[in-house]
This record gives sequence, C-alpha cells and structure tokens, in this order.
Amino acid sequence: MGNLTSAPRGTQDVLPANSYKWKYIERAAAEEAKAFGYREIRTPVFEHTELFVRSVGDGTDVVQKEMYTFNDKGGRSVTLKPEGTAGVVRALLEHGSFNDPMPLKTYYITPCFRYEKPQAGRFREFHQFGVEAFGSSSPLIDAEIISLGQAILTRLGVPDIHLEINSIGCPQCREKYRAALREYFESRKDQLCETCLGRLDKNPMRILDCKNPECAALAKDAPRILSYLCEDCREHFDGVKQTLDMMEIPYTVNPTIVRGLDYYTRTVFEFITTSLGSQSAVCGGGRYDGLVQELGGPAVPALGFGMGLERLLLLMEKTNCPFEEEAPCDIYIGSMGEEPARAAAKLAARLRAEFGVYAECDLMGRGVKAQMKYANKIGARFSAVIGENELEQKKITIKNMVSGETKEMALDKAFVEKLADFMAYEQLYNSCQDIETMFRKSQEGEQPE
Ligand code: HAM
Repeated sequence: MGNLTSAPRGTQDVLPANSYKWKYIERAAAEEAKAFGYREIRTPVFEHTELFVRSVGDGTDVVQKEMYTFNDKGGRSVTLKPEGTAGVVRALLEHGSFNDPMPLKTYYITPCFRYEKPQAGRFREFHQFGVEAFGSSSPLIDAEIISLGQAILTRLGVPDIHLEINSIGCPQCREKYRAALREYFESRKDQLCETCLGRLDKNPMRILDCKNPECAALAKDAPRILSYLCEDCREHFDGVKQTLDMMEIPYTVNPTIVRGLDYYTRTVFEFITTSLGSQSAVCGGGRYDGLVQELGGPAVPALGFGMGLERLLLLMEKTNCPFEEEAPCDIYIGSMGEEPARAAAKLAARLRAEFGVYAECDLMGRGVKAQMKYANKIGARFSAVIGENELEQKKITIKNMVSGETKEMALDKAFVEKLADFMAYEQLYNSCQDIETMFRKSQEGEQPE
C-alpha cells in the first residue's frame, strides 16, 4: 500500500498551499527573459534516446548512469529529458527556425529527469528555467545571457550568490589540452578510480568533474585549460570579461569549471551559492557552438543556461526571501436557503465574469455561521449574505471582514458602483451592470442577456 501513498523517490509534490511560490519564481524569470527578448518554447518531455546520446555525450554521467530510458510499446528507445537544451535544438531544426532572423532567443520551464542519488537540492525529477540563444558568436551575447541570469536572481532577492566563469575553448585548442591532461593523469593512473581510468583515453576532461576524493585531489594540480586556449578563444574570453566588467557584473574566473555535459565550447559559467551544501550550483550554462551542426543543422553558434528551480526555491526559503502571495478572496457571498444559494452563485459568477473579482459562495450546503467561518479561513476581504428577505427587498448588506464595517446596498442600477466604492475596487468602477434586472430574471428563472 505504501507505493500508493508515497511519491517515487527523488520526486516532490507541489501542494496548493505552496504553489504560489513556484508561480512567483516562474513569473519573475519569464518576465525578465521577456525583457531581454526571449520567447517561450515548449518541447516534449521525452525524446528519442539518440538525441541525448549525441548532444549531452555518451561519455557523460548523465548519459551513462542517469537517464530514464525505456522502450515504448512500438519498440523505440525513448528518454525522459535529462536537460532542456537538446530538445530545443531538435525542435528548431525540425521546424526550420534557423532560417529566421538571428539572434533567436528562447526560454522554457521544464521538468527534467536524472537518476541520481537524491539529497538536499538534488532530485530525480527537478525543474529548470532555461534559456537558449542562437546565431551570435559575439562575446556581447555571452555577457548578456549571464546578465539575464543575474537579473532573475537579483529580482528574486537571492543573497549569497556568486558568478564563476571559465572558457573551455574550441575543439582545436581542446585537443591540445586533452593531450596534456592525458599525459598528466597517465603518470598518476594508479590513483584514479575505475570510472576515470575508462575516461583517460576518450575524455580526460571528465576526470576533472569526478566526485571521488582521490581523483578530485589529482584534478586540483592538473593542467589548466586557460593556458591552452587558441588566439580566437582567448580573445573571445577577454571580450566576455571586458563586457561583464563594463556591465559591473562581479565574477571570478574558475579554471576548474568544465561542466558535466559534452556540448560546451568556449564560455562556461555557474551561479554558485554557499548556502546549499554540496548542491551549490543554482544555475549553469555556457556556449555550445558545435551542437546545431552535430545534430545535422547549419553551423549556428549558440549558448544558454539552466536554472534549477528546486534549488532556487530552497535557497530563497532558507534565506527568508519574500514571495509574492496570491491575492485572497475579494468577496464571499453567503446564502440562506435554496433560491438564495442560486442567486448567490449567480451574483458571484457575474462579479467574476464582468469585473474579474475573486468571488466565492457556498457549495457545501453549510449554515450561515459555518459559511462565515469558511470565509474567514480563505481570507475573504468582504462578505455578504443573501436570504429570502434580500431577494424580496432587493438589497444586500456587505461587510468588510477586517474592520467589521457594514453597508446596506440596494440591488439597483448603481449597486456595482456602490460595491466598488465600498471595496475600493478599481476594476468595478469600469462598468455598471443592471444588477436589479439580473436578480429579477434570476428569480423568474430566466437567463439574463
Ligand atoms: P546542468 O548544469 O546540468 O546544465 O543543470 C542546470 C541546473 O539544473 C543546475 O545548475 C542545477 O541548479 C539544476 N540541476 C541539475 N541537476 C539537478 C538535480 N538532480 N536536482 C535538482 N536540480 C538539478 C544543463 O542542464 C544545461 N542544459 C544548461 C544549459 C542550457 N547550458 C546551455 N544551455
């Protein structure tokens, strides 16, 4: 029975009491991205497995150990997306979007799946806010995308974050670097873990990412990529740094950042926090100038980042960042009796439809006292009760639930204006409906026009 009432390990539910925090973060990120010219893209949750093997790289931990891969009923191997970039590139290629004017700027909010050992800040299903931009190899766009990441974190008020950047060069300079790394680790082979021994020949840069303490100790003194950059890559990296300096975005150059995915070229970066233990990267990204071509498309330079929303939320909660709460109920319209309940439902529907008011009424058949208790619980700012009397006399008493002030209002032509006045509700002023007619028709069982 346990399986029926507990979510799979490494996954989380977002309950209604908490979802406002998610919506707040997602809205803030999307609005910032929009201000930079990014537009939303949505791609499937699963893709052909081959896409991730080719893009993320078959030598990476993600592809080797962490993918949720299965054969569908048609016998095709598919994989739940472990990250967002590959699907975006595939979609833009499929739809011929690389013929559109450049730069092409996209953002997404997506679940991602990695079979990792769950711990604080590390999940098997997690969510990324990601951006991907295509078409520019100018260092200006590297700095711009980094400044977008920073703008989101600043807007959310996240403290204790710092930016680390590095350049991992292009395939040409990286070949020389790989040779140097191979030579370095070859002479220390006996200290490497089993997995890294396998990486030595094919992809020695992955050793720099290994969590095994002995490998990590060796990696500390390994040759640094920055000493192997070709002239173009060095110039590009200088351009990124100069632009960040000009934009007054503080950063440190960390030559050990190589990132865990194979598609990166040149600039890589991470926004790091000291408040989340070992899961310190809140956001990671970089350039991937070869990926579009690798997947069969034209040579289009590209770059992006992924921001881990669970980590961001954890960090915000831990550091007491404020979250914008959702507006409480504007008005609760209670009722006594069957016909008044229908009239209350109608009035609530009318207020919602015409004025965008958040209105609720009784759906549980409760008595008035219990209805008001519920109205208090949902934080209703105003309330009213409709009974037979109110229907007959076409008047209603509105109560301010905070101050206790009440006001009787005739359900006449000016009702909405009076209600708006009492509720200080801007939108209500914009229109004045014939509430009296509505009530008459409702009593006669007719639909108001
Ligand atoms: P990534 O560094 O693998 O990059 O993931 C980006 C972010 O996702 C991380 O910084 C972290 O905040 C979050 N994250 C990763 N794994 C987990 C996990 N198991 N649980 C919770 N959060 C996690 C990418 O995925 C690239 N696609 C980013 C990118 C876009 N590069 C260029 N464009």
